[in-house]
Amino acid sequence: TSSVSFAQKNNTTDINVTTLASILEKNKHYHKEGTVADYIPELGKVDPTAISFAIVNSDGKLISVGDRNHKFTMQSVSKIIALMLAVMENGEETVFEKIGYYGTDRPFNHFANLETMGKPLNPMMNAGAILTTSMISGKEDEPFVKILEMIRYITNNPSITYSQAVYQSEKETGHRNRGMFYLMKNTGAITGSEDQLDNYFRQCSIELTAEDLAKIGYFFANECSRYDGDKKYKNNALAKLILSQMLVAGMYEFSGEYARTVGLPSKSGVGGGIVVSVPHGMGIGVFSPALDSHGNSLAGYHMILDLAKKYDLSIF
Ligand code: DON
Repeated sequence: TSSVSFAQKNNTTDINVTTLASILEKNKHYHKEGTVADYIPELGKVDPTAISFAIVNSDGKLISVGDRNHKFTMQSVSKIIALMLAVMENGEETVFEKIGYYGTDRPFNHFANLETMGKPLNPMMNAGAILTTSMISGKEDEPFVKILEMIRYITNNPSITYSQAVYQSEKETGHRNRGMFYLMKNTGAITGSEDQLDNYFRQCSIELTAEDLAKIGYFFANECSRYDGDKKYKNNALAKLILSQMLVAGMYEFSGEYARTVGLPSKSGVGGGIVVSVPHGMGIGVFSPALDSHGNSLAGYHMILDLAKKYDLSIF
């Protein structure tokens, strides 16, 4: 497949249920080698064997296999939507005066650099994401509602909502995130009340399926236009910004190695989901809750890797 042309690479219309099912079967055993996140007690209760694999192909067609109706919390995948809204409302320049564009060799909850550098490394790690959410306007939970509504729009799925139990669990145990929030209040980067931190906890608790993630992947792959052709939010510059951040930091300290092996803008969450965008091509959504040491879904990574290799999807 090494000689696949750019045009062929982005024509993924021959990927079918059989392709996805064989990749899922081959990789589902990886859940045994990973660990379900339990630092948020409510997250530890998920079924470690649940697995799903979905794509929206370059024609906007949805194909999925496995536990396709299984819902999980999107966690850090929500950070790309928060970034989108923060930039739509404030402009890129204002947002990135307060946050870096840096890649990272640090885990998602690293924040020591807030002291030395004075601002979060990027909007994909927790500190930067807490800050982008605080930059979305609105009282109390209005910024969260905007994030939720945008996800409902992108997925064309108005039934998406959030898990009250996971939200409560995050709020009760998220002392490290609370620490970052107050450190940024101390520097003046954040000016609002702890409602703003609650919105971050709520957005992490939004529940969706691998199919929903594939639609989100397609959206950013295609200049913020929806899988059914709706172009209400079409914005090439914004899509490029978000894809670039997914590439350099979407998989945290694994991002560099992931760029080498998969080579696609992607964002993971500790709920076990990963969203992938093939620029000007398809969207991919995977789910398997057992994680590697970086907090990325292990079986999910291997399913993406196999599909990317088979169709030479790497952007390089
Ligand atoms: O901030 C947290 O701890 C989580 N609610 C979200 C972090 C996350 O998903 C990191 N991901 N891989």
